[in-house]
Amino acid sequence: MAELWPGLGGPVINYISGPPSERWCHTLPRSLVILGSTGSIGRSALAVVAKQPDFFRILGLACARQVNRLAEQAVTFRPPCLAVLDEDAARALHALLPADYHPRILTGREGYAELASLPEASTVLSAQVGAAGLAGTLAAVLAGKVVCLANKESLVLAGGLVRDICASTGASVLPVDSEHNAIFQCLAGRGQEVNRLILTASGGPFRGKTAAELENVTVEQALKHPNWNMGAKISIDSATLMNKGLEVAEAFHLYGVGVDDITVLVHPQSLVHSMVELADHSLLAQLGTPDMRMAIAHCLMWPHCMPTEVPPLDLTRTALTFHTPDLEAFPCLELARMALRGRGGLSVVLNAANESAVELFLQRQCRFTAIAKLIRKALDAHSASNPGHAPLCPPLAVSVQTDPLALAQEVHILVERISSLDAQSRALVHELVRSGEYSC
Ligand SMILES: NC(=O)c1ccc[n+]([C@@H]2O[C@H](COP(=O)([O-])OP(=O)(O)OC[C@H]3O[C@@H](n4cnc5c(N)ncnc54)[C@H](OP(=O)(O)O)[C@@H]3O)[C@@H](O)[C@H]2O)c1
Repeated sequence: MAELWPGLGGPVINYISGPPSERWCHTLPRSLVILGSTGSIGRSALAVVAKQPDFFRILGLACARQVNRLAEQAVTFRPPCLAVLDEDAARALHALLPADYHPRILTGREGYAELASLPEASTVLSAQVGAAGLAGTLAAVLAGKVVCLANKESLVLAGGLVRDICASTGASVLPVDSEHNAIFQCLAGRGQEVNRLILTASGGPFRGKTAAELENVTVEQALKHPNWNMGAKISIDSATLMNKGLEVAEAFHLYGVGVDDITVLVHPQSLVHSMVELADHSLLAQLGTPDMRMAIAHCLMWPHCMPTEVPPLDLTRTALTFHTPDLEAFPCLELARMALRGRGGLSVVLNAANESAVELFLQRQCRFTAIAKLIRKALDAHSASNPGHAPLCPPLAVSVQTDPLALAQEVHILVERISSLDAQSRALVHELVRSGEYSC
């Protein structure tokens, strides 16, 4: 099965991890932990699992505070372990569970990390939203799991670290994000030279609008994605095109290519999920109905292909169109590229500033167009204070083979460094909005 892994035999692709073991590939049911089970990706994943109950055993589910939804899922799948954000949520969850069911209930960042590294689990779906997903992803790769990765922010914040840990522990990463999953499929077993990766973008609800027209758009308009049904944060990221910026960073880390080897094309129909251009200029594309259950099922069952409930795509009913993104109206895409080139923690600053600005926009405390301006301010402030762009996460000094405890400690120190820069950047954005310049 390893022969289906991307980049084998080709000089350009340097995939983030090696393939899962033959044993994992052939072992069913797969013992699965889902981090973020109450979210859009988590619920789609459980829908996939419910259709193929013989293929999966749910060992753990986690949410933040939507305990009613988590309790319903837990009662259906009866995992032995659950995790929530804090003690209040744990108490509320406990009160909702039936008397004959006594799962362990873990809490907080440490709880998510413990769930992600349960010794009985072979597979972890990392689908928490934003920077909060990093702890779970890192715990899963440290524990050598097969990680089905939806949480793109994990790679934006610490892609190099995830790569280093995978090399040390033998963990594998399978990309759930539809664009990266498409590229993964296009590269399966390919040895040819790759010219570039082409990420497609729907263009979001404001495709075609000018910068001036974006000044007064509302939260409700921004949340209305034309093709995909997703959580609030990623929906706003799609409206600003920051989602595509984060995906450029995700592709950079997953496939080990240069920033300039990744092109973005707006494709309003969202049917071509992404493409790979080979040296002979042939294009490989993966197409399908825009429904995340397809990419999720691909990862959870890799290397097998199983039937899903996703409706087949009827290409006679639609035209496929492509154009270049309007970077003047949607500057976030270029800001993400800039941060990726600059290194020195700029991607951490970009991500934190974006998460804070999106939160403030959703709370109607700043305008839609302020999101990009706030991110730029935060990036400029960080560049001024770190002119040499000293790396935030240098390569790991120890490996799991030589000293597993020291490896975990080293990773912990790096995560604290990321968290501290993340917190500083969030504070700056809040301060800027409080000052009134960017508020509504
Ligand atoms: N939705 C998509 O179609 C899609 C596609 C590609 C990639 N992704 C990526 O997948 C990830 C999840 O997206 P989503 O759309 O599924 O998000 P979502 O619907 O907002 O769900 C987020 C999940 O994370 C949990 N969560 C929220 N805050 C948390 C915290 N502080 N600590 C731990 N868990 C927390 C939520 O729990 P509660 O329910 O309790 O709040 C929920 O289970 C994101 O990184 C996104 O970029 C999503």
